[in-house]
Amino acid sequence: MVVAIDGPASSGKSTTAREVAKVLGFTHIDTGAMYRALTLAALRRNVCLEDDDELTRLAREVRIELAQENGVPWVKLDGEDVSQAIRTPEVDRHVSRVSEVAGVREEIVRQQRVLAGSRDVVMEGRDIGTVVFPNAEVKVFLVADPVTRARRRKAELEQRGIARPLEEIFSEIVKRDEYDSSRAVSPLRRAEGAEDLDTSELSIQQQVDEVVARVRRYLEKVHKT
Ligand code: DC
Repeated sequence: MVVAIDGPASSGKSTTAREVAKVLGFTHIDTGAMYRALTLAALRRNVCLEDDDELTRLAREVRIELAQENGVPWVKLDGEDVSQAIRTPEVDRHVSRVSEVAGVREEIVRQQRVLAGSRDVVMEGRDIGTVVFPNAEVKVFLVADPVTRARRRKAELEQRGIARPLEEIFSEIVKRDEYDSSRAVSPLRRAEGAEDLDTSELSIQQQVDEVVARVRRYLEKVHKT
């Protein structure tokens, strides 16, 4: 089965998806990491970010792998571990542009469907419930107010030794949300059948418990019928 978790930047998707997958014994797939790895590849190769054809070609050419080792997720780009390199402010700034290209999305979505196969997965992103798996059994739309999200992102960056002013992070998050929500192809929006989960006032444990409870309710319902 597929548990689809969508939502804006820093709404808590990754942490929630990872922990929910752990509790349920499902595979966690962070689709944002794939767009990030592709963006990193484009920046490293000096691909013109305005050139849709070049970006589409690159998406078909590079090898992006996602996996977990001892519960810690990693991302590889052509065999190199880029788990840290895809989380820099530079990648943050350009990833929305790369991920709005129709050809890029077509290729990455194809890979995501292959990755999920027929396994039980918790897949997080922007278009999982709308495009990648519109028939996902459980769909969650995570939301949180922008200030809370900026604070979370700041703390996350600080943990990695990157200090940045809150206002700057806040305006980048708002900009990225606007971009991701207004793009022509697969914009971020609540999927049909998705239930909101506002994480602004929730602890990570509460977020995880709530999603796990929704999955269990679904499974109970299915087993009864
Ligand atoms: O979740 P994240 O911040 O790591 O995602 C990075 C970017 O990738 C995000 O700004 C939009 C894009 N993205 C997307 O377009 N579709 C997805 N399924 C996941 C991410």
